[in-house]
Amino acid sequence: MNRRRFLGLGASVLGAGAVVAVAAPSAARLFAEGRPGRMLASELDLPEAFRVPLPVPPVLQPVRTDGATDYFEITQQVAKLEILPGVKTEAWTYGGSFPGPTVVTRSGRTAVVKHRNELPVASVTHLHGGHTPADSDGYPVDLLLPVGASAGAAPGAAGTQGAAGMEGMPGMQGMPGMRPAAGRDVVGERSYTYPGKQRAATLWYHDHRMGFTGPGVWHGLAGFHLVQDDAEAALPLPRGERDLPLMIADRSFAADGSFRYPAADPTLARPGVTDAYANGVLGDVILVNGAPWPRLDVDRARYRLRLLNASNARLYRLELDPQPSGGDALVQIGSDGGLLAAPVAHDGIEIAPAERFDVVVDFSRYEPGTQVRLVNRFGSGRTAEVMRFDVSSKQVQDDTSVPDKLVTVEALDPSAVVATRDFSFRRSRSDGWTVNGNPYQPGQSIATAALGTVERWRFSTDLHHPVHVHLDHFQVASRNGAAPGPYDAGWKDTVDLRPAEAVEVLVRFTDYAGTYMLHCHNLEHEDMAMMADFTVQ
Ligand code: C2O
Ligand code: CU
Ligand code: CU
Repeated sequence: MNRRRFLGLGASVLGAGAVVAVAAPSAARLFAEGRPGRMLASELDLPEAFRVPLPVPPVLQPVRTDGATDYFEITQQVAKLEILPGVKTEAWTYGGSFPGPTVVTRSGRTAVVKHRNELPVASVTHLHGGHTPADSDGYPVDLLLPVGASAGAAPGAAGTQGAAGMEGMPGMQGMPGMRPAAGRDVVGERSYTYPGKQRAATLWYHDHRMGFTGPGVWHGLAGFHLVQDDAEAALPLPRGERDLPLMIADRSFAADGSFRYPAADPTLARPGVTDAYANGVLGDVILVNGAPWPRLDVDRARYRLRLLNASNARLYRLELDPQPSGGDALVQIGSDGGLLAAPVAHDGIEIAPAERFDVVVDFSRYEPGTQVRLVNRFGSGRTAEVMRFDVSSKQVQDDTSVPDKLVTVEALDPSAVVATRDFSFRRSRSDGWTVNGNPYQPGQSIATAALGTVERWRFSTDLHHPVHVHLDHFQVASRNGAAPGPYDAGWKDTVDLRPAEAVEVLVRFTDYAGTYMLHCHNLEHEDMAMMADFTVQ
């Protein structure tokens, strides 16, 4: 969809009968329950739930390691995967699997990940939640072209889809000249350096190509990256096989088994989705670690579940069903940016795209043999189910616990704020999805912050938008002028704003100067220009 066609969208984005929302109390009422996206139905029979065992992505071993650095290699490649039983799906993968391999690194050690692109498309790899120098952050026009492509490939060159493939993007006309540093395209292989100056946290890496992040992630380009540190290792939390990353993502499948995605241009030479899906693509199959509605045998013991919502647009409210007696089944110990100061118990967790919630579940609170479903209260029909835990009857030892005090978390000091900035995330009648009224223009920073200083950033929305900031994690200071919400605790890099909400965050920019992004993490909004650059200097 190009800018012209976006103008004519009207009610199809918002749902029948809806008005174009503005940030007003009436809009808040209109859309308070409204969640983005439209479901795209699969064209084949969906499998029964709770048949496939939960896969756990392989941990990537370093190819070499020296005094300060661990070196990893990942080949981005097409792979035929059996996601639905008996069906072959051609995926774009990191290392041949979906999710990609889990990268595990140590706080204080540098990790260098060399990506080799054997895909039929260009890619950009971003470590989401990484505290990363700008040239390794996966800026969306810093392309890694496929092996064998020529740099500066011709516009629309079949198979390579370099930067020139994005001429249909709002605001992208003449884009090559707007690139902050010309010629950052690389052919074949590219190394991303992650210095590891950050605390233990559940991060993830994913494709971030300009205009094509939605289809890139949808086709399989996502994996976990776990940072570990001593403070976390010293805690008596569940570990080993009872520390499970769970990547939750919805997908749809075409009749031939391929991923179904409503691209406006089916050849993916131009970005965007068909009009009906401009507010986000929802799948009708819920995958956990790449398996549809899987099941897992669990001991009557505590498990650490690192929940990641890797969906393009779908929001979930995750609950266990049945709840254990006394409730508070999901004991949150961590957020996007690592451990909380103290655990927070929830009956359910609302998780927006790209958010992570680290929770501990004590399955000894259930009778042996109980089948505990992880459900999605925001879904209906098949999308109301996520996975199932089957509680074993054997006796096990469990010497883990969740201490009342986890780690020391510095609270950013509001009196240290040197600048306050407003960022409004809105659909504009003339420009599509915008930040402060403008569609994304690479190289045009809308804010410049001084290295080492604390700023107050105020986000506001018309519709539902999960707002993400690169480089440094932030702390939510207020929501709609009141205290932060139940899912806002700790260091965050993505904060979910419902329609017509306002959230204030405090952020301190540290260590790296350069150009970074903030954007909506509804990937269809992001691809249709709801991004902005900011600069740290
Ligand atoms: Cu998870 Cu800028 O992205
Ligand atoms: Cu990010
Ligand atoms: Cu959005």
